[in-house]
Amino acid sequence: MSRLRVGVLVSGRGSNLQALIQASKDPLYPARVVVVCANRDCAALEIATKAGVTRQVFRLADFADRKRRDLAMARVLLQHGVELIVCAGYDAILERAFIRQFAGRVINIHPSLLPDFAGTMDAVEMALEARVSETGCTVHVVTNDVDQGPILAQSRVQVQPDDTVDTLRERIQAEEHVLLPAVVRRLAGQALPIPV
Ligand code: GAR
Repeated sequence: MSRLRVGVLVSGRGSNLQALIQASKDPLYPARVVVVCANRDCAALEIATKAGVTRQVFRLADFADRKRRDLAMARVLLQHGVELIVCAGYDAILERAFIRQFAGRVINIHPSLLPDFAGTMDAVEMALEARVSETGCTVHVVTNDVDQGPILAQSRVQVQPDDTVDTLRERIQAEEHVLLPAVVRRLAGQALPIPV
């Protein structure tokens, strides 16, 4: 079985990266993480190292501008034969030139029921502040419009009256860790790029 080659972009803790790596330990899982790219030093890089996955950091300070940084990252992803790119807690906006190069092959996980609380890394805080009774997480295709690309899947999470940002985030992330590997599995079984 040839498995879909996945590149993962990270900036933080890496629990979604861990979920994908864990899923791909099953030899029947149809995808595997072949490279991890970060825009800063972060815990997710340690997860990649532990799993024996190639990792590289693209610090903005090392490049003339964002476009050159993203195109350098694109080259590394291509060198690894990546067929699908997963933004898993990646906190930078991807340059248009990058998105064009991988149109329909970049997906993102976001901790809200998009279109609610889009365009932020603070969607969990915002959901609590807005006192919604329900939130969740979304996997969507990345386009030039931040968090507005076609939705691939969503999971719902009820907000409890005594929820804090931490407790709510924990339950949303538990859903993310199921949803993301499931979406990647589905995409591995269909033609890529996804029409956008
Ligand atoms: C995840 O909850 C993801 O949905 C969120 O960052 C977290 C990363 O956690 N992404 C965004 O807010 C994107 N706007 P992780 O590093 O443990 O996977």
